[in-house]
Amino acid sequence: MSYSYQITSFEQYKEAYRKSIENPEQFWGEIADQFTWHQKWDKVLDWNFTEPKVEWFKGGKLNITENCIDRHLATRGEDPAIIWEPNNPEERTRIVTYNRLHKRVCQVAQMLTNLGVKKGDRVCIYMGMIPELTYAVLGCARIGAIHSVIFGGFSAQSIADRVYDAQAEYIITCDGAYRGNKDIPLKGVIDDALIGNRTVKKVIVYTRTRTPVSMIKGRDVWWEDEMEHAETQIEKDGVVHFPAASMDAEDPLFILYTSGSTGKPKGVVHTIGGYMIWTNYTFINVFQYQPGQVHFCTADIGWITGHSYIVYGPLSAGATTVLFEGVPTWPDAGRFWEIVDKHKVNIMYTAPTAIRSLMGFGLNYVKDKNLSSLKVLGTVGEPINEEAWHWYHQNIGKEKCPIVDTWWQTETGGTLISNLAGVTPQKPAHATLPMPGVQPQLVDENGNVIEGNGVSGNLCITHPWPGMLRTTYGDHERCRTTYFATYPGKYFTGDGCLRDNDGNYRITGRVDDVLNVSGHRIGTAELENALNMHSGVVESAIVGYPHDLKGQGIYAYVIYEGHHHDENLTRQDIIQTVSRIIGPIAKPDKIQFVKGLPKTRSGKIMRRILRKIAEGETENLGDTSTLLDPGVVDEIKNGAL
Ligand code: WTA
Repeated sequence: MSYSYQITSFEQYKEAYRKSIENPEQFWGEIADQFTWHQKWDKVLDWNFTEPKVEWFKGGKLNITENCIDRHLATRGEDPAIIWEPNNPEERTRIVTYNRLHKRVCQVAQMLTNLGVKKGDRVCIYMGMIPELTYAVLGCARIGAIHSVIFGGFSAQSIADRVYDAQAEYIITCDGAYRGNKDIPLKGVIDDALIGNRTVKKVIVYTRTRTPVSMIKGRDVWWEDEMEHAETQIEKDGVVHFPAASMDAEDPLFILYTSGSTGKPKGVVHTIGGYMIWTNYTFINVFQYQPGQVHFCTADIGWITGHSYIVYGPLSAGATTVLFEGVPTWPDAGRFWEIVDKHKVNIMYTAPTAIRSLMGFGLNYVKDKNLSSLKVLGTVGEPINEEAWHWYHQNIGKEKCPIVDTWWQTETGGTLISNLAGVTPQKPAHATLPMPGVQPQLVDENGNVIEGNGVSGNLCITHPWPGMLRTTYGDHERCRTTYFATYPGKYFTGDGCLRDNDGNYRITGRVDDVLNVSGHRIGTAELENALNMHSGVVESAIVGYPHDLKGQGIYAYVIYEGHHHDENLTRQDIIQTVSRIIGPIAKPDKIQFVKGLPKTRSGKIMRRILRKIAEGETENLGDTSTLLDPGVVDEIKNGAL
């Protein structure tokens, strides 16, 4: 397979961009023609951003797993689809060929069918980073079930919320997961999440760590048993077959929960056709993937980056994708580079937070590794600081690998703004130019469009692209108010952005109440809700502050009532509470006990002041005259951590 729509020069980029804006339907229709469809679409695009309604390739029938697997079998059936690197480097690597992936996905599809899963049913997946997770995801897609992967760092309560919101009747999990020197009891967490639950019909349990687990009669089944049975059903005379469900391009493919500025996480819904084309197109163009290359995305499949650039983008392109079970610092801080060396990785895609953390361990872990296979480096998830960019460029890329700084979001499905590796100009710490089909716009607080270069504003997108979210599960109104109501007629990203004198975009970070901690999105409202669940917490306010490794750290101001003999113990109790409610990823870094919070007379917390204090600023706190009780500010300043 060669990629007819791979852009290979800056001129071609400009040409593709122009065409994509002048005639989006023709542009994306021609690309969509390169995929496997059961039936052609009625119309390429139908949309308005008022409802909002976005439909790409509606009426077209396809199955994404045929595009990710079956269509590659004739030419590259024995090529590796997945290279799995276990947590423990002593354990055997597993190479999953496209033929093997096909068989396993068919088996899962059969297993799910046997257990009663039907088209449109929601299946929650809570597993470690093992090949079976990929089989589970694609097995759902094969029968048209909607998967919702939940990251392993979420608590039982978070799982229960998601299972409820998605009205999921099926769960796929593992006994446990290995991460570094930890053994995480996934099934135990699922059991806690399901206490009192009456809607989940089946829990499928894959054995990874051989941790003892409870198995409830009639509900819990072993993956291994079910898969063995399924195998005898799908294989006849050595030929594997399980018909792929014929889905509409606009049928949902998955739900992925993500934090926002208000309340509980929302289920971002992506549909099949547009998401497939977007992840494929951006994968091939941003990374400039060449057939045969090895692609290593270090994200977890529990996040959108793993969905798009470990699973769907690479596999739809017939690529070899590395799946790593462990963590970058175990057994030592050289693990990523060891993997690059061992598997001759050509493209490495990771988060700035990982780069900063590995930088801190020094070059000893890099210098004995052979990194000469690397051709392209990438970053995602948060703004990259120039120091980390240069470290990555010099020590990992040896100054010969372009770095793509890919800006995107769970809601966008795949990259919207990025340079194309070695094809369009790169600029440290700048995402640079929009992908074909992406029409960015900067607006001020009042929604006035900011034209020209050398300006900054809030980043909106004015026209649909195939990979964008379609709704938030079960609550379309929430989708409208969150993304399409702030600036009517536009998709609002929640990010602030600069456009430099050459028209390059630089994302500066969230302008709403969402934190980005180690590249993970956490809403301050969700965090405050969790903190306020602690019996002694009367009120709390969360702000972010600059953190050397995490990008942003979580700073909590807490009004506490009740006896605490020992402040540090109380802090630990609060951290435990947050960990229970959301998960270990949401633990506050600093907790300051205060007597009051700075509020306006209408009762609104003035976060601007709290943010400044958390950042270490004590002088220029701005106008405090509108505060109900200006005295609290001094008290907070004096107690700052
Ligand atoms: C931030 C991750 C600067 C941004 C794919 C966005 C970035 C949020 C970049 C989405 C980047 C992501 N430069 N900031 N290259 N990439 N972000 O949904 O604030 O987990 O809104 O998706 O991460 O996070 P999410």
